[in-house]
Amino acid sequence: MDDSHDHLAALVGNTPLLELKRFGSRQDLLCRILTKIEYLNPAGSIKDRTAWGIIRDAEAEGQLAPGQLLVDLTSGNTGIGLAALAAARGYRAKFYLRASTSPEKVTLIHHYGAQTVLIDDAEFLEPGALDTIIGRVQRENPGAFYTNQRANPANPRVHSRTTGPEIWRDTAGGVDILVAAVGTGGTISGTGRYLKSRKPGLQVVVVEPAPGSVPTPEHPHVDTVEGVHKVTEVDPRHLPENYDASVVDEVIACETRDARTTARAVARDEGLMVGPSSGAVLYAASLLAGRRENRGKTIVAIVADSGERYLSQAHPAGRPAASA
Ligand SMILES: Cc1ncc(COP(=O)(O)O)c(C=O)c1O
Repeated sequence: MDDSHDHLAALVGNTPLLELKRFGSRQDLLCRILTKIEYLNPAGSIKDRTAWGIIRDAEAEGQLAPGQLLVDLTSGNTGIGLAALAAARGYRAKFYLRASTSPEKVTLIHHYGAQTVLIDDAEFLEPGALDTIIGRVQRENPGAFYTNQRANPANPRVHSRTTGPEIWRDTAGGVDILVAAVGTGGTISGTGRYLKSRKPGLQVVVVEPAPGSVPTPEHPHVDTVEGVHKVTEVDPRHLPENYDASVVDEVIACETRDARTTARAVARDEGLMVGPSSGAVLYAASLLAGRRENRGKTIVAIVADSGERYLSQAHPAGRPAASA
């Protein structure tokens, strides 16, 4: 995606599209689903693009000094991508994560030499929680560069510059529907804006958790999908600045159990090991692909990361069942 001579950064992007043929034929889908396999980025997720986009633009603006500390609040993948690219570029990194973040993600961040601070999930349910936590991130790290993935325009910009053009190129302009999950909104806003600039009638669809999969103060411990956030019925002031609602045509709700079931079906039908957020995206894609008005169309569904990053959640007891 970049002609820089930095080796790791040069490996970011240009991920392949794979058609879900067996999964599709089992469900009598009326159109093609192509998955964009973002776990083939060098640190294993779509967030490697965001991380490199943010670092690259900050370097170009002279905002980073050698050894600089990078900090952010992350659901894990941005932390992993930033930790890897920070290592490759000679920066330090420290990330604030929910205590429930998968142990695989936390271990990966440490492996790249970055630090983590875990925050009790209940703190995220308090009014104005994100502002409070972001205030803490900045207060505790004076002089650090706050990468600010929720509002930094470098995040959607990298998707307009890379993810969108790659999809356009690799479908020869044939993409009709884009489906993705929303964490910061960077993926959907940047990719969606680019694709709509090429094909104004293209539909942009996001997946969000259904009501039974959203934690509340009364039910704080419901099973959630990392990287899938509610975007309807949320006060717009509490949505990330990088989420551009004007680019989104439809929001499809998915319960966590359906996301996990779909991820497992795709592993068994296609040999594709996708994470639960991609399970939610593919659940939404299969609903869209079953609609008569979409007959013959091409859906591109973003597979943000790999299921290997969540295997301990798939088997909470720590040991897989003998046969499932
Ligand atoms: C697993 C996973 N899927 C999807 C997303 C959504 O990405 P974005 O922040 O670009 O909206 C994220 C982001 O946190 C994620 O971690």
